[in-house]
Amino acid sequence: MNILLTGGAGYIGSHTAVVLVEAAHRVVLLDNLSNSRQEVLSNLERITGENIPFVKGDVRDTTLVRQVLEQHDIHAVIHFAGLKAVGESVQAPMDYYANNVQGTISLLQAMEDCGVRRLIFSSSATVYGIPQYLPIDEAHPTHPTNPYGRNKRHIEEMLGDIAGSDRTWRIVSLRYFNPVGAHDSGLIGEMPRGIPNNLMPYIVDVATGNLSHLSVFGNDYDTIDGTGVRDYIHVMDLAEGHRSALDYLDTRAPTMSLFNLGTGNGFSVLRMVQAFEAASGKKIPYRFAPRRPGDVAACYAKADKAAIELGWKATRTLEEMCASAWNYRSPSTKTKTP
Ligand SMILES: NC(=O)c1ccc[n+]([C@@H]2O[C@H](COP(=O)([O-])OP(=O)(O)OC[C@H]3O[C@@H](n4cnc5c(N)ncnc54)[C@H](O)[C@@H]3O)[C@@H](O)[C@H]2O)c1
Repeated sequence: MNILLTGGAGYIGSHTAVVLVEAAHRVVLLDNLSNSRQEVLSNLERITGENIPFVKGDVRDTTLVRQVLEQHDIHAVIHFAGLKAVGESVQAPMDYYANNVQGTISLLQAMEDCGVRRLIFSSSATVYGIPQYLPIDEAHPTHPTNPYGRNKRHIEEMLGDIAGSDRTWRIVSLRYFNPVGAHDSGLIGEMPRGIPNNLMPYIVDVATGNLSHLSVFGNDYDTIDGTGVRDYIHVMDLAEGHRSALDYLDTRAPTMSLFNLGTGNGFSVLRMVQAFEAASGKKIPYRFAPRRPGDVAACYAKADKAAIELGWKATRTLEEMCASAWNYRSPSTKTKTP
C-alpha cells in the first residue's frame, strides 16, 4: 500500500517508516522539518536500502497535501505531524491550535477531496488527564489538563464526527503512552531541541555530560519509591502498532476506533535511572525537586484492546529501551550500521 506519513521525519514517524518499508509498504514522508532534521532521510535510506520519497511542506498547505495524495496514489495516511510539548502549549496555545487542529482540518479536507478515507491519528494518553483509576482503559473519561491534550481530544471528536457523517471513512486514533528508545542501528532516535521535556532524553543528556544532573520532580508520591510512575514503551513496539493498525484499517475496522498503545507496566523515575545506569555503565546523578503542577503519581495503560483487536502487543523490555536510547546518543558508539 502507498502510505503518507505526515511528520514522517520526526521521532515516531521515522521509526514507523522503517517498519512499514520492511512490511513492503511504499511510504511517502511529508514534513516541514520544524522539529526534525534532513539527515534523518539519508539515515532512513541507510537502514531500509530504499530511497523514501520526501516532500518538505506543511500539512496546513491543503493544495500541497492534495498534490501529494494524488501524485503518489496514496491509500492511507498516518498523521504524526504536530507540536507536542505540554509546557509550550500552555505558553503558546494559539500556535498549538493553529498547527495541530488547523493542520488536521487541512489534511482531512485534502483527503476528502481526493477520496482517501483511511487515517491513523497520533493521539496521546494526555487526553485522559488525571487518572480516575488504573490501569487506564479506552473508556476512561477524557479530561485533558493542558492545551496540547485538549488539541488531541478536539481532533478525536472531530474525527468521530467525520466518521459518523460518511460511513466510508476508516479512522483509528492511537493513544500513545511514553515512547522511548531508538532503532537498533543507532541511526535514528529521539533528538529534542533544547532542554528535554521527557525523562529519557533528559537522562541521556546527563549521561553525555550535556546536563549535570537529573531533577526528579517529587519523591513523596504514593508509589513504590515515591517518584512518578509512567508506562514507557519502546518506539519500535509503537511503530509496529501502526503496522497492525494499518492491517486493521484495511480489513475489519469500524468507521472510527480508539486504542491505547502502551505496555501495561508502570516504571518509576528511579527504576528508569537504575535501568539506564545498568544499560549504559554511566552514573546518573539526580536531585529531588518539588512536584510539578499537573503531574500525577502514576499513569499506565490497559493495553488489552489493542492485543485483542489489533493483534499487537509491546514485547521489548525496559533494558532494551535504555540500551537503544544510549546506543543512539552515546558519543563512543561505533556500531551505527543498519
Ligand atoms: N513523543 C511522545 O512522547 C508522544 C506521545 C504521545 C503522542 N505523541 C504524538 O505523536 C506525534 C509524533 O510525535 P513525535 O514524538 O514523533 O514528535 P516529533 O516532533 O519528533 O515529530 C513530529 C514531526 O512533525 C513535523 N511537523 C510539525 N508540524 C508540522 C506541520 N504543520 N506540517 C508538517 N510537518 C509538521 C515536525 O517537523 C516533526 O518532524 C505527534 O502528533 C505527537 O503529539 C508523541
